[in-house]
Amino acid sequence: MTKVLRSVVTGVGGYLPENVVTNAELAKVVETSDEWIRERTGIRERRKAADDEAASDLAVAAARRALEAAGRTALDVDLIVVATTTPDLTFPATATIVQRKLGCPVGVAFDVQAVCSGFVYALSVADGFVARGRAKCALVIGAETMTRLMDWTDRGTCVLFGDGAGAVVLEPQEGEGEVTDRGLLGFALRADGTKQDLLYVDGGPSTTGTRGFLRMQGNQVFRHAVVNISEAIHAAAEDAGVPVESVDWFIPHQANQRILEGVAKRVGIAEEKVISTVAQHANTSAASIPLALDQGVRDGRVKPGELLLLEAMGGGLTWGACVLRL
Ligand code: UT7
Repeated sequence: MTKVLRSVVTGVGGYLPENVVTNAELAKVVETSDEWIRERTGIRERRKAADDEAASDLAVAAARRALEAAGRTALDVDLIVVATTTPDLTFPATATIVQRKLGCPVGVAFDVQAVCSGFVYALSVADGFVARGRAKCALVIGAETMTRLMDWTDRGTCVLFGDGAGAVVLEPQEGEGEVTDRGLLGFALRADGTKQDLLYVDGGPSTTGTRGFLRMQGNQVFRHAVVNISEAIHAAAEDAGVPVESVDWFIPHQANQRILEGVAKRVGIAEEKVISTVAQHANTSAASIPLALDQGVRDGRVKPGELLLLEAMGGGLTWGACVLRL
């Protein structure tokens, strides 16, 4: 078999801001209840970044932990891809701000905007560099301050989102071209711009000139989620050449406990293989997959050599899935 270069995850890190906001606290702001939020979403609490904490600060904290886990330093990094929908500034890219704050040498740094699907998209983009030998040490980060996009009078959205960041280090390693190789093995990425109205922010620099607020037709998004994500999972598994049932861990985007259970059931993944962190940090958009991966790795469940399935869906609509061996 011909040798192939694979992008291998060599370190994982996560960061949650200190400030915890419980469901009970939100019930003082909008007409809702802890019971409604837990029953409909599984969410118990979320984190809110401090006023002086930007997306890049969360990203830097997560990236430091990922670099430490990989046994690398900022000086090794030659590619930074940040998936974010809440950048520090309209420009420059949050990735270049992260590069400056970490003290990385001149290299490649840019953002990917695919909202909640951002981390899966960013992994695929980074794979294009690492698996072609064009980057030796890449940071792929999902970092979000979603609470800044909330309309705090809209109970249908403001209870659902939180702030946080997660990061992985990707490094090239030679594989055998087999499914037993470590690294990113398969992807399926999707977008359908005709569904914009279901989930979007009603502001931006070239339209309103304002930041805007997140708007969502939650039940419509919910309806598309399980079907769309399931199709992408099958496509990513086929791309990787593995049966879906063979994955060791399912690490989904953490939007709603009912969605992640519905998807697992539909594609035939056992409940005990699902990593769920939505109760602790709510929907952190592009940060939620690496945060859940970090949780699984740090509590000892997810181990090197295991086969992982990631998936997400978000504004666009965009969605996608990735199969990788840790
Ligand atoms: O990551 C991006 C992708 N986003 C998602 O995946 C989110 C997908 N959607 C969802 O997770 C769910 O649709 C929600 C959690 C947003 C809503 O759950 P649902 O079971 O679809 O409820 P619904 O939107 O159909 O609303 C049911 C009722 C409504 O009241 P009426 O019209 O039946 O009287 C809402 O006004 O629940 C009401 N409601 C609330 N009640 C208490 C909506 N939000 C709240 C709330 N507290 N926070």
